[in-house]
Amino acid sequence: MDAPSAARPGQGDVPASVIATRGLTKRYRGGQLAVDGLDLTVPAGSVFGFLGPNGSGKTTTIRMLMGLIEPTAGTARVLGRPMPRSARTVLPQVGALIEGPALYGFLSGRDNLLRYDAADPTADPRTRRARVAAALDRVGLAAAAGKKAKAYSLGMKQRLGLAAALLQPRRLLVLDEPTNGLDPQGMREIRTLIRELAADGTTVFLSSHLLDEIEQVCTHAAVMAQGRLVTQGAVADLAAGARGRLVVSTPDGAETARVLKELGVGDVSADGDRVTGEPPERDLAEVTAALVTAGVRVRGLTVERASLEDAFVALTGEGFDVAG
Ligand SMILES: Nc1ncnc2c1ncn2[C@@H]1O[C@H](COP(=O)(O)OP(=O)(O)OP(=O)(O)O)[C@@H](O)[C@H]1O
Ligand SMILES: [Mg+2]
Repeated sequence: MDAPSAARPGQGDVPASVIATRGLTKRYRGGQLAVDGLDLTVPAGSVFGFLGPNGSGKTTTIRMLMGLIEPTAGTARVLGRPMPRSARTVLPQVGALIEGPALYGFLSGRDNLLRYDAADPTADPRTRRARVAAALDRVGLAAAAGKKAKAYSLGMKQRLGLAAALLQPRRLLVLDEPTNGLDPQGMREIRTLIRELAADGTTVFLSSHLLDEIEQVCTHAAVMAQGRLVTQGAVADLAAGARGRLVVSTPDGAETARVLKELGVGDVSADGDRVTGEPPERDLAEVTAALVTAGVRVRGLTVERASLEDAFVALTGEGFDVAG
């Protein structure tokens, strides 16, 4: 994974954390506690993954950060300024893609962007066409730019929403499930784009329910479950916090499983010639010796590095959708 790129000098007063919330809470009118006492710190220059299953409060948090809804309690600072109070100064420096981008279906993708750009009082009309063409090109929509937006697929609409967020250079991009609806090739393109933007010094905050996606593109992550923050930090540190998995490769699966259980190895499961379990406290050499003594043929024995998914399961006791 690439090291987080530092904020570029000369960008002005970018604070060390571009998003900082304290006790941020949202209870919807119906009584649903969607976000519960969230303390989030997003370092400048990071690609920050905001991870959580459906309904865990990601979009609600993002809508509070963008000043679209008022928190019930707590505070949120974006680019060092309080939201929603400073929305007028903060939002022009932030590109956002939030669930279901609003599009005019009867206009082409290009005309949607021209219109969006025209609504920005700081955007120079003389360079509008070039700006729109560059944004369409960046998200891979150049060929479909003339098509009416209502004829766009979900993935194309998502790309158009992303193009709108990219019309201006931004200090911060906030992307709510940016790869939602994209095919694997489209997902790869967006990941590449995110890395490029980060290399240019933009901090990228993206939500996702796909663990492997976060692991591939993010330097930092926060994990949400049921409105609460489970953990946050550098992705490498989060994964290192989990214990990994003992893996024995052997043609004698059943016998291996029996010996491992006798040795006190927890959560043993055998799948063909691969037997896994919790990493044992004792020396791996002892485990190998015990297997060999029992007449088990051992092809390999190792502790596999923990993934972010292992960390998540260890922290919450829950599984996670990792389908890419
Ligand atoms: N406008 C609303 N009124 C009442 N409850 C809401 C509203 N919007 C969201 N909720 C509830 O708040 C909780 C968090 O929803 P939210 O949309 O923030 O989750 P999410 O993490 O973005 O989920 P997903 O991965 O499905 O997008 C859910 O229980 C949801 O039902
Ligand atoms: Mg959401």
